[in-house]
Amino acid sequence: MTKKESNLNQLINDPFKGKSGFMPAKIKDKIKVRIGLNENLAFPEELIKKLIKDVAKKIDPRIYPEDYCDSLCGIITSDYGLQSNQVVVGNGGDKIIDLMVRLTIKSGFSAVIIAPTYPMYEHAIKVQGGDVTELYLTDSPVYDLDPDYILANITPKKDRLLFLCSPNNPTGNQFDEDKLRKIIAEFPGIVALDETYTDFGGYSLVNALKDYPNLIIMKSMSKFHGMAGMRLGFALADEFLISRLKELLPAFNVNIASLELAKLVLQEKEALSKIVSNIVSEREIVFKRLEAIDGITPYKSYTNFIMFHLEGIDAAVLQQKLLKEKGVLVRNMSAMPNCENNLRMSITTKENNLAFLNALDEIVSNY
Ligand SMILES: Cc1ncc(COP(=O)(O)O)c(C=O)c1O
Repeated sequence: MTKKESNLNQLINDPFKGKSGFMPAKIKDKIKVRIGLNENLAFPEELIKKLIKDVAKKIDPRIYPEDYCDSLCGIITSDYGLQSNQVVVGNGGDKIIDLMVRLTIKSGFSAVIIAPTYPMYEHAIKVQGGDVTELYLTDSPVYDLDPDYILANITPKKDRLLFLCSPNNPTGNQFDEDKLRKIIAEFPGIVALDETYTDFGGYSLVNALKDYPNLIIMKSMSKFHGMAGMRLGFALADEFLISRLKELLPAFNVNIASLELAKLVLQEKEALSKIVSNIVSEREIVFKRLEAIDGITPYKSYTNFIMFHLEGIDAAVLQQKLLKEKGVLVRNMSAMPNCENNLRMSITTKENNLAFLNALDEIVSNY
């Protein structure tokens, strides 16, 4: 580090000590089969491109979008049977997570995560200068929630926020409704329940919003709605919490194209339900094929991805071989608590699923 950099470094909040970045550029060039980020490539390309052409005809990028996306909020809340003041829309599910943390956490306070889970909760807490209270799901292969253990290990007043992800990323399972309700009812702070994956065969707790004023349900439009590149997410809650979240948002936080595209995508109910049934039936096919491979144990999933455990095969080696020899990008989850030697693949198109399974068969049989 030069002297100039070192001087600058002293001015910078540095929760990650310079470790950043998501996917190195040199990896991007090698990918032929994108099944590492749970994108919804089952959403028909012709349909999304047609919708975006319709958006292009409608919008004028020279003018600002609606400040709080009121027209989109109306559509979302009527879909969920809520009041129009019960939603806030943001620039991706990750922005909503960030907003939740900024609403509740500052230095000296903490938020609870139940690991293994989606890493952006921890990221957002650290960026905000808060402490992370890391609790755990029960051991593999069950990965269940234990409400008594969780409630016994929180610190009231310090732990102001608790993240729950159901169905959970990366384990893929959805937790029992009574267990979720017990935690929401007894946690003394705010509970942010991430339902990004409920549309792939799970159930939603949106109906429970009326029972718990401390509950916020977070959704992303990146997965089920096939809009990962457009960056849209939203939170559903009681009017009070929504109005406080809105205060934190900069005006015009969602761009005009994403806003208009989301409105069109939400109208495509028939296409969306077809996409889900395709993904669910493909997920079962891939699950059975994985189960049949010696040394591989898949975990039952209610999402558009499957995590699987490897016995006698090194996850990091397999991941690299899949990428370098076959151009197949899967995620290595081994660094997460209780996920040692686990990989995660996304269910996308039949072609991608087959390309992955064939590549896997070939590499594993020559291992
Ligand atoms: C559980 C979970 N929540 C939120 C997100 C964030 O989604 P977005 O792409 O809308 O930021 C993801 C993305 O992978 C996720 O897996």
